[in-house]
Amino acid sequence: MIYFDNNATTSIDPAVLEVMLPFLKEEYGNPSSAYSFGKRVARALEHAREQVAALVGCEPSEILFTSCGTESDNTALQSALSIDQDRKHIITSKVEHSAIIKHAEALARRGYEVTWLDVDAKGMIDLSQLEAAIRPDTAIVSLMWANNETGVLFPIEEAAEICRKQQTIFHTDAVQAVGKIPINLSTTSIQFLHCGAGKSRGASRGTHSGGRSIRTRASRHFRATSSGANPGSNRQRRSGTTNTQHD
Ligand SMILES: Cc1ncc(COP(=O)(O)O)c(C=O)c1O
Repeated sequence: MIYFDNNATTSIDPAVLEVMLPFLKEEYGNPSSAYSFGKRVARALEHAREQVAALVGCEPSEILFTSCGTESDNTALQSALSIDQDRKHIITSKVEHSAIIKHAEALARRGYEVTWLDVDAKGMIDLSQLEAAIRPDTAIVSLMWANNETGVLFPIEEAAEICRKQQTIFHTDAVQAVGKIPINLSTTSIQFLHCGAGKSRGASRGTHSGGRSIRTRASRHFRATSSGANPGSNRQRRSGTTNTQHD
């Protein structure tokens, strides 16, 4: 079979499978535990964090693993809105993934205001429209890096720079871009980026595992949406027993 829908998911790379197999068999310790059986797994997770950070050009401490792309997208919006509660305006585009569109619609029903940027006949946004849309009460601008349907690449670094100048948080859904085009966050003004292993031959896939990591610059902007079990996992920023096999 030749599979043509590699934007929906990808086959696992045999090298990834080999690295992951011990964690599916004998290395199943809870990485938050105090004994060496779990600590070995915690070390492996930190190594994975370093690898993801190297891939996108940021510090390992800025990488946070989430359950899926939808959680990452939703959390970026929620975090920005909770940082400054006087800012109730969100800017995004009409061609985002439903993980942004549906969540922005839900926020609009709860009283937040959303500006939906248009795209032209080639699926491209107009940065002057973005610049004009930003207001003093804009909490966040969220634009995808590569479109999952059309493949169009938005000028994300320029968009992030416009937001930096207007002191607005910028998030990019880069699920379809990371691993396919070079990305170096250390030279950009992006506060949140999320990517997923399932789209680039990693171990995690499917609805439970698409977007894996959310990057917060110096952790300043991320706000947890969960609290409770294992608060120490994911560097104190996201509760729940760490899912080693999928993270
Ligand atoms: C661009 C983009 N964003 C977000 C998602 C959502 O990811 P998940 O299914 O892991 O929640 C996907 C998944 O197809 C996607 O392609």
